Amino acid sequence: MQTPTRQRAEPIGSERPLPPPPPPAEQGLDPTADMAKNGRVEYLFPTPVFWYVFTDAAALNAELRDLILEQERAAPSMVKSNQGGWQSPTDFFGWSGAAAETLQRYARRAVEIATARMPLPANLRIEFHLSGWAAVNRKGHYNTPHVHPMAVWSGVYYVDPGDEPPDAPGAVLEFAHPIVASVMTFFPGGLPTARLVRPEPGMMILFPSYLQHSVRMYHGVRPRICVPFNAHMRIVGP
Ligand SMILES: [Fe+2]
Repeated sequence: MQTPTRQRAEPIGSERPLPPPPPPAEQGLDPTADMAKNGRVEYLFPTPVFWYVFTDAAALNAELRDLILEQERAAPSMVKSNQGGWQSPTDFFGWSGAAAETLQRYARRAVEIATARMPLPANLRIEFHLSGWAAVNRKGHYNTPHVHPMAVWSGVYYVDPGDEPPDAPGAVLEFAHPIVASVMTFFPGGLPTARLVRPEPGMMILFPSYLQHSVRMYHGVRPRICVPFNAHMRIVGP
């Protein structure tokens, strides 16, 4: 996949050259030299984000695009975080047709794969209920910052990212730093405060529903089409 990291600032884990240590007060080994070599930084409470790009999805995406634009013509938009554009009710995975069924299968499998990678108790048995909706943005449309309450995973599948030039500043999906205070106190200006993602056709992203995100204004001509979704959890055992 074309890695979405290309718009990310310098990775947090990259190591800068260490300033030279002060001369030791006594002869012998300097214990801070061992600390410089073996001291470790542990990242507590990281935010899991799952990525995958279906590279052979052109036919599926063409079907989804026709299906969604047909629905757009037939029904008024829901209004949530979208400023302009069209958003269907949250019944996408109930739409008839092979394309909607295939995407539901892909989304459910993504949730299962990402969940399997979480450090959960091995005997925990979970069922997921998925709800999705179609979204169409045209020139000037965007989504304000929001979270998806009450879900576990939230996700989005990009049917068509539109036709903005690759170096255009707009229409990216923006994940905000989940610890708001940190961006003002912990090396402010020096560490990333947001993660920008330029969508690709067939890109599937899952993220915790608490992670605030927004979509910057779209400036392209071809409609930008995606299917966001939520996965709600039910514990069925042990
Ligand atoms: Fe969202």
